[in-house]
Amino acid sequence: MKWTARKIKALKGKLKVASVTAYDTLSAQYADEAGFPLILVGDSLAMTVLGYETTLPITMDEMVHHTVAVSRGVQCGLVVADMPFMSYQGTTEHAMENAGRFIKEAAADAVKIEGGALRVELVEKLVANGIPVLGHIGLTPQSVKGTGGYAMQGKTDEAARELLDDAFALEGAGAFALVLECVPAELAQKITDSITIPTIGIGAGLHCDGQILVFTDVLGMGNGHVPRFVKKFADLKPQIQQALSNYKTEVDLGTFPLDSAKKKETT
Ligand code: KIV
Repeated sequence: MKWTARKIKALKGKLKVASVTAYDTLSAQYADEAGFPLILVGDSLAMTVLGYETTLPITMDEMVHHTVAVSRGVQCGLVVADMPFMSYQGTTEHAMENAGRFIKEAAADAVKIEGGALRVELVEKLVANGIPVLGHIGLTPQSVKGTGGYAMQGKTDEAARELLDDAFALEGAGAFALVLECVPAELAQKITDSITIPTIGIGAGLHCDGQILVFTDVLGMGNGHVPRFVKKFADLKPQIQQALSNYKTEVDLGTFPLDSAKKKETT
């Protein structure tokens, strides 16, 4: 069964929305085979795979290139493309064109945009034109220059009220679900209980309607900083390093490949 934005929205109150990022065909195939209903081509790609220091420099062309690769690897999951910094913050026309590229050129099923009430007009227009939108509030890494860091959001009463208002605004505008990043668990629970679309948490506690993590963090294969809320479900980095080192040693020693005479002896 192919997941649609509508089907994911309908999971609210019934089943959790397990979600993960993917950045290329191989990671997408693994995620899809594991049965994730939502697979995000996150702009975290900038930092996890492309070596940028923040998500800000990644371009539309880079995001489209990787989304094409992810779409090739996915049969069932909903492929959501993350709109990169400055691809939607300008005019609505510019944002519409960029969102359209993800659907037309990269076979994405939906787009994700960061921001709350500020994005209402754009979300309404995208949805009215048949492009499902995943909202994203709380810690929004594309605003790191303005906010000054990657700290937990919504800690004061006023900030919590603003986030709740943002969630209502995005729900009203037609977003099919909402990422809540780095907000206190009690606030995430309050937002989750207050809106009719699924919340997908990352560093937002247990009470969201779903969870999302970054592919390389889940597998313990990343090289960069890993946030405290992440659980590594495997620790692949040392295994990968060991395997590569073993291969190199065998090449250096001349023990790989076996020459054909020796191969016959061992078979
Ligand atoms: O870019 C990304 O990977 C994300 C998720 C962490 C939600 O935005």
